[in-house]
Amino acid sequence: MIKGKHLIEVNDFSFEEIDDLISYATEIIKNEHDYSNLCKGNLIATLFYEPSTRTKFSFESAILRLGGQVIGFADAMSSSVSKGESLVDTIQTISGYADLIIIRHPKEGAPKLASKHSRVPVINAGDGGHQHPTQTLTDLLTIKQLKGSISNFTIGLCGDLKFGRTTHSLTKILSRYPNINFVFISPEELRIPDYIKEGIGKESYQETNSLENSIGKLDILYMTRIQKERFFSEQEYLRLKDSYILNNEILKMANEDMLIMHPLPRVNEIAAEVDDDERAVYFKQARYGMFIRMALISKILGKGDNL
Ligand code: NCD
Repeated sequence: MIKGKHLIEVNDFSFEEIDDLISYATEIIKNEHDYSNLCKGNLIATLFYEPSTRTKFSFESAILRLGGQVIGFADAMSSSVSKGESLVDTIQTISGYADLIIIRHPKEGAPKLASKHSRVPVINAGDGGHQHPTQTLTDLLTIKQLKGSISNFTIGLCGDLKFGRTTHSLTKILSRYPNINFVFISPEELRIPDYIKEGIGKESYQETNSLENSIGKLDILYMTRIQKERFFSEQEYLRLKDSYILNNEILKMANEDMLIMHPLPRVNEIAAEVDDDERAVYFKQARYGMFIRMALISKILGKGDNL
């Protein structure tokens, strides 16, 4: 039962709870219009202290499609934060108005802190370079829908694995599924942190800086953006920003049924020509994000259990 729970890190939910969410999202996809009154009367706050297009709009679309209503801000400087209000005070206030709080914040740990001071459940919509659990639920639903199961595959995570929070959450969760092999593809400077690799057996992963040399063995390629906003030096960003560019030429070396995923936004790391390739599923993936968030919100609010 995830009713009333916070979602701060992927591991906050059990294997069964995640499975249940994926099945529920699959039901919603099949009959998407049957859920339009499920959260009628619920008010949900989206507090975005960091820029977002997909995550914010996909949460808001999910809420509206469930019949709920939304309050919130997309720019913290338009809120009392600009007057110096602390996160804790904002949360204590907003949790007196809303039934659920969704928060994105540039500081790692901010959603956790928020959850300690909130009267209502808190969902982490991305905290700094740390975690992004609802993107991971999106990714799992995408894999389940398009591959049939979340097991027995080799996934290559490519790009900024140091600061890319989506790769952190995804790796953590996938290491709990059967027979998954990881290929971490990044420049030396942007390697995946050790604390994320912990828990994966040494025989189940390898690290490399070459996309060309590894693409042929992948069932899924998860591309990511170099996270400009987390770099301390502009020069360092400029040096690394075009480390990987997936184009049709490189794709010739890939399996015919390899999925190309990306949490988006994309900058240069996938050439626009790749969008026409059937293996490119990143816009589908973004749409699945809305359905898994519909499932998540209704379950946390205790609405999805009797259907
Ligand atoms: C990601 C994020 O915010 O971490 N975007 C998203 O939520 N879909 C990836 C990114 O910004 O590169």
